[in-house]
Amino acid sequence: DTNKFQAIISHCKEYGFIFPSSEIYDGLQAVYDYGQWGAELKKNIKDYWWKSMTQLQDNIVGIDAAIFMHPTTWKASGHVDGFNDPMIDNKDSKKRYRVDHLIESHTDQLKAEGKEEEAAAIIGAMEKADAAGDLEALKKIIDENRIKCPVSGTANWTDIRQFNLMFSTEFGSTVSSEEENNKVYLRPETAQGIFVNFLNVQKTGRMKIPFGIAQIGKAFRNEIVARQFIFRMREFEQMEMQFFIKPGTQKEWYEYWKQERLKWHLELGVPQTEYRFHDHVKLAHYADAACDIEYNFPMGFKELEGIHSRTDFDLRNHQEYSRKKMQYFDNDINPETGKPIGNYIPYVIETSIGLDRMFLSMVCAAYTEEDLSADGKEDSRVVLKFPAKLAPIKLAVFPLTKKDGLPEIAQEIMARYRADFKCFYEEKDTIGKRYRRMDALGVPFCVTVDHQTKEDNTVTIRHRDSMEQERIPIDRIGELVGKAIK
Ligand code: GAP
Repeated sequence: DTNKFQAIISHCKEYGFIFPSSEIYDGLQAVYDYGQWGAELKKNIKDYWWKSMTQLQDNIVGIDAAIFMHPTTWKASGHVDGFNDPMIDNKDSKKRYRVDHLIESHTDQLKAEGKEEEAAAIIGAMEKADAAGDLEALKKIIDENRIKCPVSGTANWTDIRQFNLMFSTEFGSTVSSEEENNKVYLRPETAQGIFVNFLNVQKTGRMKIPFGIAQIGKAFRNEIVARQFIFRMREFEQMEMQFFIKPGTQKEWYEYWKQERLKWHLELGVPQTEYRFHDHVKLAHYADAACDIEYNFPMGFKELEGIHSRTDFDLRNHQEYSRKKMQYFDNDINPETGKPIGNYIPYVIETSIGLDRMFLSMVCAAYTEEDLSADGKEDSRVVLKFPAKLAPIKLAVFPLTKKDGLPEIAQEIMARYRADFKCFYEEKDTIGKRYRRMDALGVPFCVTVDHQTKEDNTVTIRHRDSMEQERIPIDRIGELVGKAIK
């Protein structure tokens, strides 16, 4: 639903959630800034993930590794040689496209025209060609379906080439002959910061397998034809967890984390029908099994999170390239020999979710246009029905009027609760307009201080989704809001 998506993008800008990067210079493609309320929402999503993936787990700890890493990291991880996407240029517009995006746009169009079967056949052929790395077969799909450039409208294409998605820069002052030596990459995934620290954490944390290391941080990919708002960005954030296990147990742990991660999403209250698993046909260079949790975005079901069985690919390669042992000594007793199991390179199950994509899914799930017309009077509202624990503002406090001591009482309520959760004070406009504005920001509770408050210390509290109002003592505000955001 492109109209809904456009409405969401406008809403995000108008209400201070997301701005195009460096907008005064007309923006920077596929880079975005989070505004005052977007930053709060993003932080709440991070906190929710971090808490459930570390604090509530017996055996998972979090780290914060640097974005820059030794360049050999990316040789060992396979990203220098393997982190490529097939690209094609249109000879007329001179625009470059990722081949899978180009084909997907075409099949999205076919689906919109009701030609589901034709679309499925093309996607099947693309996945097969992709998995085999068969660039000629990919080109054939583009030619046979006469897929056109969205800019020039022609099907005048170059051959397909591989294009590495990593950004690079130089360390220190660059002397041309040393250029290659000074080259460093901006990490394309946070995972490698965890792998290279595997033994540091295991030893200093006295971690026993199975255990996990979690991390939240920026990642960078030179996406070609990045599109769809914050769905595909060049600078984005990942929340990743690597779970280290005994070789041979990967199937059960893979299933375990698939279910755990789906549960995490469902706990936020979005209906289960909005999520689905999608098994990968084409496996990344490091995986022996992989799937996505897809969310039903306005543009259809798309990847939100990946769960990957990475085997010992990363640790084994780091051992080879660094010549440092990446082994774990397992002193559990092997029942067959009666002796400790001994040394092995652990296997890894990874869960990896894009923070920005999670943000987008939450805004899409929350965004609701409601018709409130009654008694021949037209009325409507846009409300973001965020789960209270993720809402950027938890409580808005309004004095009914700017006089009679009401603002002072409202400020006292602010002072009393602002240390516990995000509060917002507003005295401009009518109460009705203030409610609408808070609905548009997704504020779950608004309290209004009126003349009765001066007599009995009660306020009106208004619930965002039902719009119902009730009279409660000021003393009960904290308990009510606290319970909802827990
Ligand atoms: N460490 C594994 C890894 O990076 P991935 O499937 O390439 O796996 C994981 O990425 C998640 O990161 C994706 O499911 C998606 O949510 C997010 N992601 C990847 N590329 C992105 C981009 N260009 N913009 C926003 N999010 C992205």
